[in-house]
Amino acid sequence: MKISIVGAGNVGALSAMRIAQYNLGDIFLIDIVKGLAEGKALDLADAQAVLGIDYNIRGSDDFNNIKDSDIVVVTAGLARKPGMTREELLARNSQILKEVCLNIKKLAPRAVVIIVTNPLDLMTYLALKVTGFAKNKVLGMGSSLDSSRFANLISQELKLPASSIEAMVAGAHGEGMLPLAKQTKIKGVNLEEFLSDEKTACLTKKTVERGAQIVALLGSGSAFFAPSAAVAQMVRVIAKDEKRILGACAYLDGEYGIKDICIGVPCRLGKAGIEKIIELELTAKEKKELLRSAEAMRGLLKQLTF
Ligand code: NAI
Ligand code: 2OP
Repeated sequence: MKISIVGAGNVGALSAMRIAQYNLGDIFLIDIVKGLAEGKALDLADAQAVLGIDYNIRGSDDFNNIKDSDIVVVTAGLARKPGMTREELLARNSQILKEVCLNIKKLAPRAVVIIVTNPLDLMTYLALKVTGFAKNKVLGMGSSLDSSRFANLISQELKLPASSIEAMVAGAHGEGMLPLAKQTKIKGVNLEEFLSDEKTACLTKKTVERGAQIVALLGSGSAFFAPSAAVAQMVRVIAKDEKRILGACAYLDGEYGIKDICIGVPCRLGKAGIEKIIELELTAKEKKELLRSAEAMRGLLKQLTF
């Protein structure tokens, strides 16, 4: 199994580290900045003896090294600055994504492509169109991170371990994010048995704002510890063909009444990428919000050029 990660910045390098520790296959780290990916790969490789784990990681600024990858993770691009929305990143990052995706199309035509670069849902759509790959082969990481954030906020509120909470967030990875309280369970029991609607609404709002809260606190750059954990989980589920259900940004072709949009929904993931889009029973309010989020996305899609 060959796993390439394009973009050796905060999210890319830390994803490489986590994937190496899962021992999923050979890892290739790529960055446009000369020396950066190679230096980080050497540093990561030097940890093997201390960790007592063997893995193979290399880095380069030469894109040809992604050749015949089974999985390509794209983290190349700019991160948000304080006060900047994900959508403002659109113009700069779509240029970068286009170039990266044309290389993936040429060099790794069988790969499953995981997009991380923001604005996530738009970049996933762009990647699907530019590569021309089948819709199951291109997905975005966003909802699983948002679900983990929602779970953490619930765990703090209820003073329960985060690992006992199965949270589900759908919709855009951005303002149209939709934490699904009825699909969120604590040891199999619905969240509504534990929290009032008001409290849940407050945690939902905090989840939506979490990325921006971290950007404001860091002062430069955006979150990378939880994002890289979510990337590595997605890579593991696909590489090991785990058939696990995770929130992922997927191309919808009529599911949830939405067509020709990439947005976060629960998906069963395996070696083929998205093996099934799970259509949950949403409340009327959630359905309306998901449709609204998709329509907002459709408006932004008009700004993309292919
Ligand atoms: P970073 O700035 O630390 O790293 C980005 C890297 O991409 C840099 O090293 C840069 O040199 C490289 N790069 C730029 N153009 C390139 C090209 N054409 N080819 C190869 N490499 C190129 O940023 P960070 O924190 O790693 O974030 C990366 C992206 O991921 C950002 O767009 C950020 O908004 C997004 N992000 C998305 C999340 C999600 O949940 N989907 C979570 C966290 C970050
Ligand atoms: C986040 O949610 C920046 O999308 C990134 O932290």
